[in-house]
Amino acid sequence: PDPGWTLETDVMVVGSGIAGLSTALRYLELAPAGRVVLVTKDEFANGSTRWAQGGIAAVVDPLDAPLAHMVDTMAAGRDLCSVEAVRTLVTEGPEALRWLMDRGAAFDRTADGGLALTREGGHRTDRIAHAGGDATGAEIQRALTAAVRADPRVTVIEHGFVPDLLVADTTEPDSRGAHGTGVALGATVHVMGQGERDGVGEVRARAVVLATGGIGQAFAATTNPEVSTGDGVALGLRAGCTAQDLEFVQFHPTVLWLGPQARGRQPLISEAVRGEGAFLADTEGRRVMAGRHDQADLAPRDIVSEGIAAAMARTGTDHVLLDARHLGAATWERRFPTILASCRAHGIDPVTEPIPVAPAAHYASGGLCTDLNGMSDRVDRLYAVGETACTGVHGANRLASNSLLESVVFAHRAAAHLADGSLPDPEAMTARPERRGGLVAPALVPRIRAVMSRHLGVVRDPDGLRTALAELTALAADPANDAAHPGTDAWEAANLLTVATTLARAALHRAEHLPGRGAPGFGARRRAENVRVGLSGHRSIRT
Ligand code: SIN
Repeated sequence: PDPGWTLETDVMVVGSGIAGLSTALRYLELAPAGRVVLVTKDEFANGSTRWAQGGIAAVVDPLDAPLAHMVDTMAAGRDLCSVEAVRTLVTEGPEALRWLMDRGAAFDRTADGGLALTREGGHRTDRIAHAGGDATGAEIQRALTAAVRADPRVTVIEHGFVPDLLVADTTEPDSRGAHGTGVALGATVHVMGQGERDGVGEVRARAVVLATGGIGQAFAATTNPEVSTGDGVALGLRAGCTAQDLEFVQFHPTVLWLGPQARGRQPLISEAVRGEGAFLADTEGRRVMAGRHDQADLAPRDIVSEGIAAAMARTGTDHVLLDARHLGAATWERRFPTILASCRAHGIDPVTEPIPVAPAAHYASGGLCTDLNGMSDRVDRLYAVGETACTGVHGANRLASNSLLESVVFAHRAAAHLADGSLPDPEAMTARPERRGGLVAPALVPRIRAVMSRHLGVVRDPDGLRTALAELTALAADPANDAAHPGTDAWEAANLLTVATTLARAALHRAEHLPGRGAPGFGARRRAENVRVGLSGHRSIRT
């Protein structure tokens, strides 16, 4: 339908988690006369950020050093990280943390008033700041939400779904000096519950920032909320951008195991619980990580998840046990009140019994390719920030608590770029809606998730990846799977199918070079190349 309304602005931000909010706020600090329209498809705080438990990693201890943080990040990422991106992350990280505090986020303190720091998997020192014990994301979301809501220069549209970007063709050199690419000029927005006429509008902007979070809902079991359906990645891919490292889905090792039929968002048991001394045992009482890595239970996440997968295969079970009884009731109550309550709500008391856990899809280490200013690789003035983006900092496996940090550091860089650059005049160009993603029947989503969880989980093999790709491609090609009516469910299903199929292609491209190798991580170590995928092809690049 024709748009019933049009809003003009300088910057359009899609997404209301830490990445989107930090971009909006920082842009307005640097461009005080600027205006932002921020669109979020659900309620403001319903994204992944508020679920983040462990904390935010940054070098604040005088005995720590950016180089040490860099070494840990690159080791966790199996040397598939971009050195420049990681250097940027670790050197600009402390300032990003200070900014969050200036914006009102209150972090936990030691008795002498310093920042309380903990450790998580892959870190060789304590460098993770946390809030509310294990409610770091909730505190950050609270503070940034309040700041955005109080700023009259930001127009917030809740329950607004973005099915299509508006992209203008241009043969002029773009802001990177490249020729012949498109320019993002806004997006169509459907505001749910407002009817066809009032609900369908257009935001015309001088730049668009995609900050829609991750893709966890492409899997049967995930720590991600319902909104994590890969919308930003799918929008970018349809606009002609490429995604990098999409095959590197991070499976969090310790997600509360709620039985074999559990589906959807599962409760996370923060790695910080192992940071405080908990350990993993199989159902026969053997230590899972003994002899697997010198950091044992605090090895990087992919290694711990592989260890758990091996233990489950050995014992023929679908979970292992996280033993944290020795922390005692007082530590549990002070450090992990959220997790304690969540376990008890499911009938498990971690003070007196081990917690059943299993890996579940947690984080997209890859995403839309961006430069160090957050700009996408093909469409000028289209930015991606946070989990939606691949800046190159995570490589094959993100280091714990680097995600909140990456969101702020690269949001600030994108904001500076937006404030510095000469934003194009939207009037001067004719925008076309980007290629539409089609509408996929929501009933297909459980089938997509079943394929992904069966063949693209912690352990993969080339035959399984070929099967997955064939099944997903067939689902996409069958007109019987089209949805009859537009709506959030149908657009989300289409985005999930786009992302799942592209991810399977990336994983197969990697696996084809690794005959006989099961786990993607091993491949990463042996072959220092990243995989880039678009909707129409894929290639490897040497990092
Ligand atoms: C956790 O607390 O274990 C999750 C934090 C993260 O994903 O970095």
